[in-house]
Amino acid sequence: MTILITGGAGFIGSNFALDWLAQSDESIVNLDKLTYAGNLETLAGLRGDARHTFVKGDIGDAELVKSVLAKHQPRAIVNFAAESHVDRSIHSPEDFIQTNIVGTFRLLEVARAFWSHLEGNVKKGFRFLHVSTDEVYGSLTAGEPAFGETHRYEPNSPYSASKAASDHLVRAYHHTYGLPVLTTNCSNNYGPYHFPEKLIPLMIVNALAGKSLPVYGDGLQVRDWLYVKDHCSAIRRVLEAGRVGEVYNVGGWNEKPNIEIVHTVCALLDELRPKADGKPYKEQITTVKDRPGHDRRYAIDASKLESELGWRPAETFESGIRKTVKWYLANPDWVANVQSGAYRDWVSRQYDLVDATQG
Ligand code: NAD
Ligand code: TYD
Repeated sequence: MTILITGGAGFIGSNFALDWLAQSDESIVNLDKLTYAGNLETLAGLRGDARHTFVKGDIGDAELVKSVLAKHQPRAIVNFAAESHVDRSIHSPEDFIQTNIVGTFRLLEVARAFWSHLEGNVKKGFRFLHVSTDEVYGSLTAGEPAFGETHRYEPNSPYSASKAASDHLVRAYHHTYGLPVLTTNCSNNYGPYHFPEKLIPLMIVNALAGKSLPVYGDGLQVRDWLYVKDHCSAIRRVLEAGRVGEVYNVGGWNEKPNIEIVHTVCALLDELRPKADGKPYKEQITTVKDRPGHDRRYAIDASKLESELGWRPAETFESGIRKTVKWYLANPDWVANVQSGAYRDWVSRQYDLVDATQG
């Protein structure tokens, strides 16, 4: 038996592949375009492992996806592939439309054709699991209840709008054609192999490099943080037992304002890697211009996943963030490797104008 994952060289997909193969002998075919966010170094531990086949390619390349499906006959597709960074979507939305909307559409089309020719139990058991985000639901005010699965869609950034469109296509392919889909909408992930353009890894990496820690606006925007390995276990559970056509929200029950996250990272670094001059890392925090259209608060109500499928996150924020900081301290080579020329260009474009101290 085999599953096809897309985007499996990115942050969540690679954690998913590593965890899957640590617990199962079912093989994985991993289709990834290797954009700036895809990194084969992350999958180095799977080199030579016959259970992992890497294919470099685009989910929007219908001929390629068709041939991968024909060759490997997966029993399921888990679609992680996406452009995923809100700030990049504000600067250049085009790639988000191409991959998140057109790419998902092409993948669905090819999956539908493949599935429609399957027979019997193989056809019955086939699944298309689409990995999406809580950002499709828009922004909450302070007192509002957390997002449930039936919350209206109100995406505010080009990223979340493109993910919302992909969710609608996935839904329509079930409703219209009967494709056996599952959708998960997840809150902010953190953990090992997270690209240092996102809040938590950027703060760790900048702090260690003696650079400033750029907090957007007042730093009081709230996100609901989920340790990536908990997200992976939720996806495995939904794939195994989720009801076809259903949506499951995945969250960590960890709502925190950004500024608190940054202070927590600084305090852990003070403890685990104190600065030679004895000064606290929090002195590196700087306030920078806010993100345009910045969503104020996300919060996930993951109780459907718990009551239907018995899933709960294993990590608290305290245990997960400690593991994460330790992982970055132990893996400077991985960090150096992903900080390529393209990464440096992005950082200077995103922060230099607003923060002259940013290196
Ligand atoms: P990521 O940006 O780290 O990785 C995305 C991967 O997809 C990369 O390896 C990239 O090379 C690949 N990719 C991009 N375009 C492709 C294409 N056209 N064809 C094939 N591969 C392509 O993203 P991530 O953080 O791992 O997110 C994975 C999924 O989870 C995304 O769909 C994202 O929307 C969703 N999600 C992420 C978070 C989060 O906090 N990171 C939260 C909720 C949902
Ligand atoms: P991010 O990790 O980009 O995830 P998302 O925008 O998908 O939630 O950002 C998390 C929060 O941190 C968000 O409110 C924006 C904020 N942020 C900063 O304050 N400074 C930064 O340098 C970055 C990258 C994010």
